[in-house]
Amino acid sequence: MKVYSDPLSIQKTLSEARAQGLNIGFVPTMGALHQGHLSLVEQAGQECGVVVASIFVNPTQFNDPNDLANYPRTLEADLKMLEEQGCDLVFVPTVETMYPEPDNRIFAFGELETVMEGKFRPGHFNGVAQVVSKLFDLVNPDKAFFGQKDFQQLAIIKAMVKQLSLPVEIVPCAIVREPDGLAMSSRNKLLLPEYRKCAPQIYRILSEAKNLAKSHSVAEVKNFVNQEIGNANLLKLEYFELVEELSLKAIQSWDESGIKVGCIAVFAGKVRLIDNLIFNR
Ligand code: PAF
Repeated sequence: MKVYSDPLSIQKTLSEARAQGLNIGFVPTMGALHQGHLSLVEQAGQECGVVVASIFVNPTQFNDPNDLANYPRTLEADLKMLEEQGCDLVFVPTVETMYPEPDNRIFAFGELETVMEGKFRPGHFNGVAQVVSKLFDLVNPDKAFFGQKDFQQLAIIKAMVKQLSLPVEIVPCAIVREPDGLAMSSRNKLLLPEYRKCAPQIYRILSEAKNLAKSHSVAEVKNFVNQEIGNANLLKLEYFELVEELSLKAIQSWDESGIKVGCIAVFAGKVRLIDNLIFNR
């Protein structure tokens, strides 16, 4: 596995690979890797001739400076995991490389960015679009692999690819969970033991809510989640929304068309966790 910090060197290697007829699969990450990231690398390996991962904690997508400062950084362990998973190339740029000058681009994603994560983390998706568009420009992948845990991010990236007419296929990959149901996340590393013990309640409550949806209204299911998270020791609900998969519009009734997804953000102490589950009945 080759590790690059310089864009020109990785671009040279990638154009040689392309000249040999290999297609490029790309897995962008912010490091602090876990089995969820490795499942993306694995899928990329099954579908592409060359697998590139990037590790870059992107400052422009953090609306809270403390969150950026505390974000886990585990580069050495990350590189080892990527190598063992069969990743071919890793791009590890510096902030100066990615942003030699401030990126003032403003993306517009309409309602996709005004709800849920977009509402509670203003500017977050603009930063995601800035960095992902730059990375796509550098790597020029045929396919890029993103986890469905960041469900809204996936919708935003698909919209960005469409807006910019980028020649990349976005491949959504299933959420990977710990044996107790907690969705894998780099932020899980920050959970103090008592919060880690409590955090699987999130998936339990989502799963029970999905079951309840068979016989109860949207409003009743939302009340149930509110109450259950309220009762769960140590967890604080930021939002729970039932949305239509593509538009991310909040649904009022199960009879509405489209796939319905329950999306949740919860604080476990100072750590903010998100999760989601398809709720179709
Ligand atoms: O999902 C992430 O880890 C990040 O938002 C991404 C896509 C790597 C952009 O920084």
